[in-house]
Amino acid sequence: MSFFQLKSGVPIRGRGVAAVRRFALIAGAILAMPASAQAPSVASSRAIADEFAAKLGEELQKSLAFIGPELTINVCADIAPQLASDLSRRYGARVSRTSLRFRNPANAPEPWQAAVLESFDAGSEREFFETLPDGSARYLRAIPTTGLCLACHGTNLAAPMREKIATEYPHDRATGYSTGDIRGAFSIVWPAKP
Ligand code: HEC
Repeated sequence: MSFFQLKSGVPIRGRGVAAVRRFALIAGAILAMPASAQAPSVASSRAIADEFAAKLGEELQKSLAFIGPELTINVCADIAPQLASDLSRRYGARVSRTSLRFRNPANAPEPWQAAVLESFDAGSEREFFETLPDGSARYLRAIPTTGLCLACHGTNLAAPMREKIATEYPHDRATGYSTGDIRGAFSIVWPAKP
């Protein structure tokens, strides 16, 4: 049943399997010690967001070209969270994606993320970083919509895509975007100092 192997070694499979794997990844992330914990800063946060964006873009592009948009849904659904937990483990920070108009309720913003996303929409800032009194820190960076996103997040979705999204994400709010719109954000939360 596995017919396409992505470079990261994750075959594209059904969502049931994905849920089990996601659980295993989360359990793994909790057990593993951060390999190279870094000091929280704008620069270190930015570097993680860059790496996340580059890897995700690469997987998306490759998958769209090889297997087409309907099956590529699994890249956003499975590969993105997997990359996020790999990065979280590697850097000792909680890495994720969020959005005001999310597709998966699991990506719903926390109140601070919603407030920052609203300020991104209202102004020209595209990056946010703050350190809290306990030594923890948090970073958000806007993710712009590009041409690559429109088959799944744009205004005129092809009928098979519309149907697939309606089945897998009955409460989807993540369509209607145009190139240049802020689709969401990369989020990096650094733990408090021990
Ligand atoms: C092949 C379809 C597809 C493409 C192309 C795609 N996405 Fe997604 N996107 C999804 C799906 C499906 C989800 C829900 C993932 C999940 O279940 O966690 C999602 C989720 C997201 C999320 C997390 C927040 C949410 O809505 O749940 C962000 C942010 C996001 N996509 C941004 C993008 C950007 C930016 C691009 C273009 C560079 C893009 N996506 C391209 C299908 C796609």
